[in-house]
Amino acid sequence: MNRTVFVSGGSRGIGRALVLGAARAGYDVAFTWRSSEAAADEVLAACAEAAPERRVRAYPLDVRDADATEAVAERVLDDLGSVWGVVCNAGVSRNGLAFSLSDQDWREVLDTNLTGAFHVARAFLPELIGARGGRILFLGSITAPGATGQVAYAASKAGLLGLCGTLAREVGRKGVTANVVVPGYFETDMTREQVSASNHEFAHRFGPSGRGGEMAELTSTVLFLLSDGAAYVNGAQVPVTGGLDWVP
Ligand SMILES: NC(=O)c1ccc[n+]([C@@H]2O[C@H](COP(=O)([O-])OP(=O)(O)OC[C@H]3O[C@@H](n4cnc5c(N)ncnc54)[C@H](OP(=O)(O)O)[C@@H]3O)[C@@H](O)[C@H]2O)c1
Repeated sequence: MNRTVFVSGGSRGIGRALVLGAARAGYDVAFTWRSSEAAADEVLAACAEAAPERRVRAYPLDVRDADATEAVAERVLDDLGSVWGVVCNAGVSRNGLAFSLSDQDWREVLDTNLTGAFHVARAFLPELIGARGGRILFLGSITAPGATGQVAYAASKAGLLGLCGTLAREVGRKGVTANVVVPGYFETDMTREQVSASNHEFAHRFGPSGRGGEMAELTSTVLFLLSDGAAYVNGAQVPVTGGLDWVP
C-alpha cells in the first residue's frame, strides 16, 4: 500500500516544498491550508502535474484549534486510509524584544508553533501506534537557545525539543520515531517578513556555507527522515543549516 504523509501548513513556503517533494517521491499527501484556498489549489495543481499518479488532498485547518485538528485527522484517515508520516510544519513568527512583546503576539506564536504542533502530533498518534510504525517530524530552529527580538519564536521552538524528545521516548518502542529537523535560513514569506536585516546579513555572512538553503536541500533530508532507512534516528535534532548554528 502507498504511504501517506500529512503536512500542516502546506500551502506555501517550506510546507509547500515538502508537499511537492513527498508527492514526487511517491507518497500520497494530505496537507492543510489556513488563509488561502487559492494557494492550496495551486499546490494541488502543481502536484497533479509533478506526480499525477499520487493522491494529494488539501484541508482547511487552524492548528490552534484542537477539535478541528482531530476532525481533520479523521477526515484524512477516511479519505486516504492510513498515515505514515506527520510533519508538524505550520508556524508563525512575531518579532519583539521580551520587555515589549504583547500577550497577543506571545500567544499566537506559542499556540501555533508549540501547542498546534502538539495538536497535530497527538491527533495522529493512535494511527501511528496502531500501525506500529511511522514518523513524526517537527520544524525546529537555530533560534531555540535564544534569539534577540524573537522571544516567543525561540521559546516555541525550544518547547518543540521537549515535545519531540518525549514522543520519541513514549512511542519509540512502537516503531514510531519523532525528530526535529532544523532549517537554517530558507527564503520564505516568514524569513522575508520577520527576519531582521542584521540577522539576514549574519546568516549569509557568517554562516559557514555563506548562503541560505535551497528547498531541495531541506526536502531531501525530510524525505530521508520519513524513510525506512531512518528507523534508528529517533529523538534527534537534524540540522539543515549549512553549519549556521546560532543567531545573535
Ligand atoms: N524559513 C526558514 O528559514 C525557517 C527556519 C527555521 C524554521 N522554520 C519553520 O518552518 C516552518 C515553515 O516556515 P516557512 O518559512 O515556510 O513559513 P511561511 O512561509 O510563513 O509559512 C507558514 C505556514 O504555516 C501556516 N500556518 C501559520 N499559522 C497557522 C495556523 N494557526 N494553523 C495552520 N497553519 C498555519 C501558514 O498557512 P497560511 O498560508 O494559510 O497562513 C503557512 O502555510 C515553520 O514552523 C517555521 O518556524 C522556517
